[in-house]
Amino acid sequence: MENFTFYSPTKFVFGKGMESEAGKLVKAFDGSKVLIHFGGGSVVRSGLLDRVKASLDEAGIPHIELGGVKPNPRSGLVYEGIDLCRKEGVDFVLAVGGGSAIDSSKAIAAGAIYDGDFWDFYCGKPIDKALPVGTVLTIAAAGSEGSGDSVITKEDGMFKRGASGEGIRPKFSILNPELTETLPPYQTACGITDIMAHLYERYLTNTKDVEVTDRLIEALLITMKNEGPKAIKNPNDYQARANIMWAGTMAHTNSCGVGRSQDWNSHNIEHELSALYDCAHGAGLAVTMPAVFRYVMDHDKARFTQVAQRVWGVETAEEGIDAFAAFLKSIGMPSTITEFGGKEEDIPTLVKSLCYGDGRDGSISGFVTLNEEDCANIYKAML
Ligand code: NZQ
Ligand code: ZN
Repeated sequence: MENFTFYSPTKFVFGKGMESEAGKLVKAFDGSKVLIHFGGGSVVRSGLLDRVKASLDEAGIPHIELGGVKPNPRSGLVYEGIDLCRKEGVDFVLAVGGGSAIDSSKAIAAGAIYDGDFWDFYCGKPIDKALPVGTVLTIAAAGSEGSGDSVITKEDGMFKRGASGEGIRPKFSILNPELTETLPPYQTACGITDIMAHLYERYLTNTKDVEVTDRLIEALLITMKNEGPKAIKNPNDYQARANIMWAGTMAHTNSCGVGRSQDWNSHNIEHELSALYDCAHGAGLAVTMPAVFRYVMDHDKARFTQVAQRVWGVETAEEGIDAFAAFLKSIGMPSTITEFGGKEEDIPTLVKSLCYGDGRDGSISGFVTLNEEDCANIYKAML
């Protein structure tokens, strides 16, 4: 195991009805004027937005709102949010929604107190300072409720890039599994896939002797394998929703990724897909992961055999990947990029953006370093 520092100070408030605590929590973290930031309307339709506003009113905290965050959130709305925060003297950003609303909130929070263009943070500048951010989570998926990360798509060129820093780690996150019961099965499945991706990206390591984190990841993968189909079958299965929600948070606070190198090649390869085709991140990952795993399996077959046996209950590395791919298909995820508009002639564009974006010099590194030819082969295998 490698040396590490683990500091994950988000306050998690979990359970039924907990959104009524939003006002008290904002107050506890010194918020005195709040921007409530949300997506395309699910929180309006469910009545959640009204309940959150009522909780802020009860705590005597003035608030304004900005909706309209799209899945794969865009830079345009971030600029709008930054202007609004400055004009209105906002000192706390409250995201109500999924990873997209949370990531857009984090970008606004960082940009509102920064002199330059907020996009600098998405070109590698760490985010040390931002307005405080809180979240009321409505989908178990991205793990943004406990992470110091944000992913935004720049409309000019449609580049999807990530930023990181302690400044944007949420001060608190309210996790009420009931709120996820209104998710359509497809979105539930996208969330399940993303959570499992966050686990696999950490499992694929070149660090030796990492038994404790291996076992934690395996436990979370088994939980997702067992609980995921229950929530797809019965959207109102509170216990399944609760187990998935906490697994999603645990998968991405990095508690199971410390002390080991990690992969993240599947995420990087996927981000090009959701940037170009605007597919759901989870759907893109469902196609990407089996293709990447088959391509890199020989680098450490013992690792793939271990997860095959301990999680999927099969013998060989190949069977483990096949079992995972079959699981993803069974919950309604695509298995080819063709299913969401992917075309062979786009592969050079995808590879160029992947291997040369973000200051890269012709390859991406992770569990295995992949050059342009490798990435093209992987995209081809996904057709
Ligand atoms: O926009 P609304 O109307 O709210 O609808 C959303 C959206 O259409 C809907 N939804 C969410 N909660 C719902 C609901 N519909 C009914 N009932 C509910 N309770 O679901 C759709 C997807 O929402 P979104 O926020 O986009 O989902 P997700 O949480 O999967 O976030 C995806 C984004 O997170 C990024 C992804 O790249 C993608 O842009 N990621 C962020 C990470 C991070 N910050 O740490 C890590 C991840 O790996 C990921 O890259
Ligand atoms: Zn993800």
